[in-house]
Amino acid sequence: MDDGDGYFGEHVAAAYDESSADMFTPNVVDTAVGVLAELAGDGRALELGIGTGRIALPLAHQGVPVHGIDVSRAMVARMRAKPGGGSAIGVTIGDFATTKVDGKFSLAYLVFNTIMNLTTQAAQVACFRNVAAHLEPGGCFVIEVMVPDLRKLPAGQNIVPFHVSPTRWAFDAYDVATQAMSSNYVEVIDGRGEYRSIPFRYVWPAELDLMAQLAGLGLRDRWDGWTREAFTSESRQHVSIWEKPADR
Ligand SMILES: C[S@@+](CC[C@H](N)C(=O)[O-])C[C@H]1O[C@@H](n2cnc3c(N)ncnc32)[C@H](O)[C@@H]1O
Repeated sequence: MDDGDGYFGEHVAAAYDESSADMFTPNVVDTAVGVLAELAGDGRALELGIGTGRIALPLAHQGVPVHGIDVSRAMVARMRAKPGGGSAIGVTIGDFATTKVDGKFSLAYLVFNTIMNLTTQAAQVACFRNVAAHLEPGGCFVIEVMVPDLRKLPAGQNIVPFHVSPTRWAFDAYDVATQAMSSNYVEVIDGRGEYRSIPFRYVWPAELDLMAQLAGLGLRDRWDGWTREAFTSESRQHVSIWEKPADR
């Protein structure tokens, strides 16, 4: 942790868009935004972990009023500096597991594995409860997150490398007893390594369904991705949508 911005402080925020370039391609963004705009309908959308506005900006551009919650002022400052990132998009600085925002929403969403930034089961459960309290009856909560990659772990090992190049090594570390994991990065600059580690808690689809149930939400859809392909035993990620009953 650093200066109150969590693991997304100035250093990470400055490089975020470039280092996540795959997630900023029009194809990826437009498909996600299309689904989210449809779910928001005529209502407002709440983004948990709004970051640099990758999704919020194009969604707002489609006419959906968006409000964001984020713990990182550095990330939000990046969004504010972009076209459309001004005061039209409200942002509340705080922890999205507990932070309250005025008004009700037809849609809340938490994309790009960000539910895993909550590192305890209790915090993930609190997040579902917090979202449910912000949804209007019939409103939806969308999560995009990886399926835990445990099938890549040979017996006795707990490390999954996911990037190795002359200038960058990256690996995930898993603790299957606690569901704690971390993504670890070594940037090699002038022959010297700089190490950074971000803690996560991996979470199973069925566990998310139970968290939704505890918060009074029911599963409406689960897809392999934003293009709405079926979720199967081979899926490596999912987009899940839970709904608040229309009579609550
Ligand atoms: C992976 S980035 C995703 C940003 C954006 N949603 C996107 O898709 O590009 C995660 C964001 O969530 C924020 N974040 C992580 N944990 C948080 C928490 N507990 N409360 C509020 N924001 C959090 C980080 O500051 C960061 O901006």
